Amino acid sequence: MAEQTPAEQTLADRGSNRSQRPSSPAFRAFIADRWAPRAEAAVAPAPVAAHTAPRRARLGAQFPGERLVVPAGPLVTRSNDTDYRFRPHSAFAHLTGLGTDQEPDAVLVLHPVLDGHEAVLYLRPPAGRDTEEFFADSRYGEFWVGARPGLAEIAAVTGLRTASIDDLPDALVKDVGPGGVRLRVVPDADPTVSLLVDGARADSGRTLDEDAEADAGLAEAVSELRLVKDAYEVAQMRAAVAATVVGFERVVRHLPRAAVHRRGERVIEAVFDGTAREEGNAVGYETIAAAGDHATTLHWIRNDGQVRPGDLVLVDAGVEVESLYTADVTRTLPVDGTFTDTQRRVYQAVLDAADAAFAAARPGARFRDVHAAAMEVIADRLAGWGLLPGTAAESLLPDGQFHRRWMVHGTSHHLGLDVHDCAQARREMYLDGVLEPGMVFTIEPGLYFKSDDVAVPAEYRGIGVRIEDDVLVTADGNENLSAALPRRPDDVEAWMRGLLG
Ligand code: GLY
Ligand code: MN
Ligand code: MN
Repeated sequence: MAEQTPAEQTLADRGSNRSQRPSSPAFRAFIADRWAPRAEAAVAPAPVAAHTAPRRARLGAQFPGERLVVPAGPLVTRSNDTDYRFRPHSAFAHLTGLGTDQEPDAVLVLHPVLDGHEAVLYLRPPAGRDTEEFFADSRYGEFWVGARPGLAEIAAVTGLRTASIDDLPDALVKDVGPGGVRLRVVPDADPTVSLLVDGARADSGRTLDEDAEADAGLAEAVSELRLVKDAYEVAQMRAAVAATVVGFERVVRHLPRAAVHRRGERVIEAVFDGTAREEGNAVGYETIAAAGDHATTLHWIRNDGQVRPGDLVLVDAGVEVESLYTADVTRTLPVDGTFTDTQRRVYQAVLDAADAAFAAARPGARFRDVHAAAMEVIADRLAGWGLLPGTAAESLLPDGQFHRRWMVHGTSHHLGLDVHDCAQARREMYLDGVLEPGMVFTIEPGLYFKSDDVAVPAEYRGIGVRIEDDVLVTADGNENLSAALPRRPDDVEAWMRGLLG
């Protein structure tokens, strides 16, 4: 007969089978004793605090008299009892100014008060050294994850009133009766908080559909709040792009090593990501290192291929700085430093499309005009090469769109805390929205001819080109934030020669 699992040990507890945790009262007293006092916590507000207060005020003004709940989100399990590094929800980061690692399970609440809202940040305080959590909790204990900031320190840094997370349930339910305060929570940020909110508004007299609609309205509002970046955000975007430029330069320096490695694409990924990490940053999305035909797969993140001289390699990579703003840049490089004639022809078409998009990206234009300008060029070039079933003009009609076979993605997306920022904004604010100074988005046309695409001549097959830049709308046009990375084919070749010596 098989041995029975002892009835008293739950599945959840079996994670501790690999270690023997001391638990005697003598040990508990011993480990709690003789720790030096903590150094004084920082008392100065972070520079971002001057910007987060106006952001919260603008959000609150859209929902007078309502309680708005913005969770940071929980730690996310990678597998079993191992978590990913913590990254707060972007709405939480935007409204608190907290960034990398800050702060699992925290919840920002904008409480309605007479003249607006009062913001309170509910946090899990660090456990005292006399608790089991201190030495035994691998998710939150100081022995495992390091010292965590206390409520006073977070209050000083953010300029927010802070309170223990234990106070959250009572705070949520206050005045939420029939006809009382309306509660909204950012959906899908933290399931535990969403359940708490659902419980708190159970007696509100509103239907589940009305509550879901209210939450969707908040998601939309926090997304639209980020469409125009403030001065702090623009500075962070500049920092993210500058670090990305450094990463691309290092990638070029390591191309000869990639070209002789059996997984050269991994060399590129490792160099870019490693550079980001060494400088104290991260990447804003999985790096795409796509050589040869892999470049025709839009989200090629497997990065397990060779990087062969004579081919192009498409590198789509962006550094995310500590404040969580990310760049999103693509350069398509000749592995051996020189474009072939066909590669150069395809590259130039994409570059012309990008330049047309840049010319369209001005205040007063619509977001969709930027894409339309790029598509005119793409359709024109494809028609010129005889690839379209008809004229470019016919292809550009809504019922045609044949050119999109070779560029199935859009030309632009907003960029900021999320690589695809402001994604819950309404269509009239995004695709149909009017460009304003302070908006930041990508311009990233491409052409992708797969190796098995028999609709194109053989010379084009296996060539994928994307050129992606990060663009700030200014008062009279735009600024290419990633202009430090060469775009024109001659400039790319000269830049590579300079880096490779
Ligand atoms: N790197 C993802 C994108 O370009 O949208
Ligand atoms: Mn992009
Ligand atoms: Mn990209």
